Amino acid sequence: MNRRVRVKAPATVSNLNCGFDVIGMAINEPYDIVDIELTDNGLIEIAGIRGCQSISRDIDKNVAGAVLKAIISATGVKCGFRVIIEKGILPGSGIGSSAASSAATAFAANILLDNRFTLAELVAFAMEGERLASGSAHADNVAPAIYGGITLVRSYEPLDIIRLNIPPDLWSVVIHPRAEIKTSEARKILDKEIPLSTAVRQWGNVGGLVAGFFSSDYDLIGRSLVDYVAEPKRSALIPGFDMLRKAANEGGALGSGISGSGPSVFALCRGEDTAGEVLVKMSEVMNSSGIRFSGYSSPVNHEGTVRCN
Ligand code: HSE
Repeated sequence: MNRRVRVKAPATVSNLNCGFDVIGMAINEPYDIVDIELTDNGLIEIAGIRGCQSISRDIDKNVAGAVLKAIISATGVKCGFRVIIEKGILPGSGIGSSAASSAATAFAANILLDNRFTLAELVAFAMEGERLASGSAHADNVAPAIYGGITLVRSYEPLDIIRLNIPPDLWSVVIHPRAEIKTSEARKILDKEIPLSTAVRQWGNVGGLVAGFFSSDYDLIGRSLVDYVAEPKRSALIPGFDMLRKAANEGGALGSGISGSGPSVFALCRGEDTAGEVLVKMSEVMNSSGIRFSGYSSPVNHEGTVRCN
């Protein structure tokens, strides 16, 4: 029986503009690593957090605590868990920081409990981390973090995750300005109801994006990367958003938008060279703004959460 396991979970770009709360994609960098040791004392302990000082080790305030409590409650196991988290993804970045820690915790605990759960069940446990972090148990980050690739939450009740085709030349660029946007705050500013005419345009794009992924039709993917629901409200929270979009277009991106609830901004591209060019153009905007940032260019991450020991 495994007593200790170390796993790695990737960052994710959720929403992909039109797919608010339902579509997400895993990228290779950055990522979180979670080490969990099985103990006999029946306690959940967050023994250490590296790479970020602002995250609480209190199990009632830490996503790993929420996930492990849900797993213990579902299984009735009497064991304890000692957790060490290495944060590669900063909280409030918009690239699935809480999701990666939640996904890694669920995946690691499952190995320690002899793989009794399916990946779909691990998504449901990881959603408890999201509920704690943002007040909403959305799955559009945790699903791709666990499965890898691009996923669609077809339904929340019952939970039904669909793995979408990954076009072979699809690359992403992510610019993470070093500011923090709390997902809970970015959700509060959204309208609770939308006009039918807006919904029609939005679900047309969701269908177009899914069709574009399955047919590897890059132009269709680009045409469908439009958001009439969250972006009009949230883009004002992101300094230089319009300039970043212009830079992405100039670099040849298929489309661009807010990653999750921001402040990260993503672009999808066809091919590594175009992604490199888009990263350069978007980085130039950030350099002239004087705002600290990190930039990433990555193909779609296929593997999701993996064991690394
Ligand atoms: N779908 C969520 C939102 C993702 O946009 O609020 C948060 O990372």
